[in-house]
Amino acid sequence: MSDIRFLENERIFKIDSENTSYMIKIADEERFVLHMYYGKRLKSDSVADLCRLGENPFVPSKNNRDRCSFYDCAPFEYPAHGIGDYRDDAFSVKNKNGHTATTLNYLSYNIMKGKPGIKGLPATFGSEDECKTLELICEDAYNGLEVRLYYSVFDDVDAITRSVVIKNKSKDSIKLTKIMSACLELDEGDYDTVFLHGSWARERAIDREKLGYGKHFVSSVRGESSHQEHPFIGVFASDATEDFGEVYGLNFVYSGNFIAQAEKSQFGTVRVMMGINPVDFEWTLAAGEEFYAPEAVMVYSDEGIGKMSRCFHDLYRRHLIRSEYKNKMRPILINNWEATYFDFNTEKLLSIAREAKRLGIEMLVMDDGWFGCRNDDNNSLGDWFVNEKKLPGGLKYLVDEVNKIGLKFGIWMEPEMISPDSELFRAHPDWAIQLPGKVGSLARNQYVLDLSRPEIVDYTYNQISSVLHSANIEYLKWDMNRQICDLGSIGLDSSSQGELFHRFCLGVYELQERLVQEFPGLLLENCSGGGARFDPGMLYYSPQIWCSDNTDAISRLAIQHGTAMIYPLSAMGAHVSDCPNHTVGRVTPFESRGYVALAGTFGYELDVTRIPEADRNMIPAQVKMYHSYSDLVRNGDYYRLLSADTDRKWDAWQVVSTDKSEALVTVVKVLGEANVKSKRLKLKGLAADKKYKIAAYDMSMADENPESVQILGGDSLMYAGINIGGLHGDFTGRLIHIIEAE
Ligand code: DGJ
Repeated sequence: MSDIRFLENERIFKIDSENTSYMIKIADEERFVLHMYYGKRLKSDSVADLCRLGENPFVPSKNNRDRCSFYDCAPFEYPAHGIGDYRDDAFSVKNKNGHTATTLNYLSYNIMKGKPGIKGLPATFGSEDECKTLELICEDAYNGLEVRLYYSVFDDVDAITRSVVIKNKSKDSIKLTKIMSACLELDEGDYDTVFLHGSWARERAIDREKLGYGKHFVSSVRGESSHQEHPFIGVFASDATEDFGEVYGLNFVYSGNFIAQAEKSQFGTVRVMMGINPVDFEWTLAAGEEFYAPEAVMVYSDEGIGKMSRCFHDLYRRHLIRSEYKNKMRPILINNWEATYFDFNTEKLLSIAREAKRLGIEMLVMDDGWFGCRNDDNNSLGDWFVNEKKLPGGLKYLVDEVNKIGLKFGIWMEPEMISPDSELFRAHPDWAIQLPGKVGSLARNQYVLDLSRPEIVDYTYNQISSVLHSANIEYLKWDMNRQICDLGSIGLDSSSQGELFHRFCLGVYELQERLVQEFPGLLLENCSGGGARFDPGMLYYSPQIWCSDNTDAISRLAIQHGTAMIYPLSAMGAHVSDCPNHTVGRVTPFESRGYVALAGTFGYELDVTRIPEADRNMIPAQVKMYHSYSDLVRNGDYYRLLSADTDRKWDAWQVVSTDKSEALVTVVKVLGEANVKSKRLKLKGLAADKKYKIAAYDMSMADENPESVQILGGDSLMYAGINIGGLHGDFTGRLIHIIEAE
């Protein structure tokens, strides 16, 4: 059960989740807001201060002589700028005099049931029975600002969310030049930072390094969360492993430019910061106006990385993803991108649909190339009307025919973009984000629509909506294939150009919010050149996100491992594709491709009429496998068993039902080896005193192999393990199903 209390005498706020406590102290008569503790839940209400408050020189009100000494080491909840704390700050301004300094002092508080939403932004949610929120109202008296810090805590998951609102209470307008969403102060110690770095087709690789002195950060200036760096920071005790040790993780519920930073001070203490990247950010707050900073999520685990991951998964499944599909089995789709690229027509799609139906697949998704005159990626973005040369009779005819075959229908769009060679651009050349007088830098031969302008948001929404109304379309893949540069908008005056990145992001959120409101039954899958916008912000709108354009089963082991460090398997778009893999050229067994895709949404991305017959014949078995295990995969607790990153021969993970009555283990042998007699794999998360039936899944029988069934105790499975030896060859895989024995 969660709890938030104000301990009047000590002037301490104590925020408790079931297993963690977070404590804030209002210190000194100047009402500084100081961090005291974040870690394992404390029964006791007292905790030693992180700095020696009350002893000189740490009494600013009595000792202005040494005020800077106090500022430069005190653990602030929301550090001010430019007044003597030389570590990084949480907010800064440019006031009417051009001064940048800020101050922060406590005024009052509210403790409320539930959790307020954040205007225009995605955020976790919870009812009055599920969570509580602390609002700390503070002031920057020097600049006439009210700064409201929000902390929400949930009954059913050990996570604390943070957000900030700044209101201009002065008579003059002021520019915000930086506003972080969370600052977390950690005591001195040996920590590692963990970032998820990447590139196109190599998203979210785990990068763990010792945290040295100074600032260590990842960020994006690309206008989206990006392939390259991810809005996540882990600060792990340097001895923490998957199952042991103290681990802190912060994730940003935002899809635009971010910064996630750890700064180790001269004293060895660590200040962790997360928020909108201040680079190219400036926001004018007129008198009376407010700015809402996006939400940051904090998770603390005292049982290693795995427990942190499971907390994030639970939080996002229960309190972030809203779609009707969040608790429903997703239809198995077949997407034509890797099957045909731009070279398709109605007949080709229908031939795929017929064969797909015969094999048990449930939805056809038509990818890029159906609109304008798009036969390659050089034109037509923005012209969202059907290309009748490819699809005579239009969308309605095609979709009706697909439905008659017995499949649902889904479509691809890239609504944020405009091709220079498009009717839209010829009519509205000023609609692209651009610098006046400069030829814009193209990427994939396209520009980005200026979604900071409400009229362009409206126009774009109407385009999407009319496509979806034109036929029985039940799924939308929303893609975004280039990042933003040449930052300029004709909709903003010269003093507001610094608002463009954030306003663009708000425009995208508005579009997706309108979409999910108007089409609540639509299955929305976000995508950005693969997984460049796989972040909690997008999860608020779509229950699944395309994880990567790299569909190779072996590359996917690392991509899905890094992604699952934060995001539930139910959110990871994953497909079985053809071989040699189009991105890396590798050939892997069809079975293994199925096992790896099963750890995500599961679907196909191939020409089912042309793949080898042996592979095609396996599809009904894979469909059956998905139907048998997808509830477990979607709802279960995820445990990482082995990682090909560190163990070059094996990769393995496990999903356990929340009542511990069932589990599914997936093992992939990445590199074959000679003369191995056995390999024990210790399972996790089972009930030690239960008995379990263990059955290897046999793809050739499309079922569990009765000959392999064994009964073992949960203790034996976890402490002694199962023998997974016997897999022969590179890239071979196996599923092992474990169910409580009667
Ligand atoms: C990038 C996506 O990630 C691909 O799956 C595909 O939809 C292409 N864009 C289409 O242009």
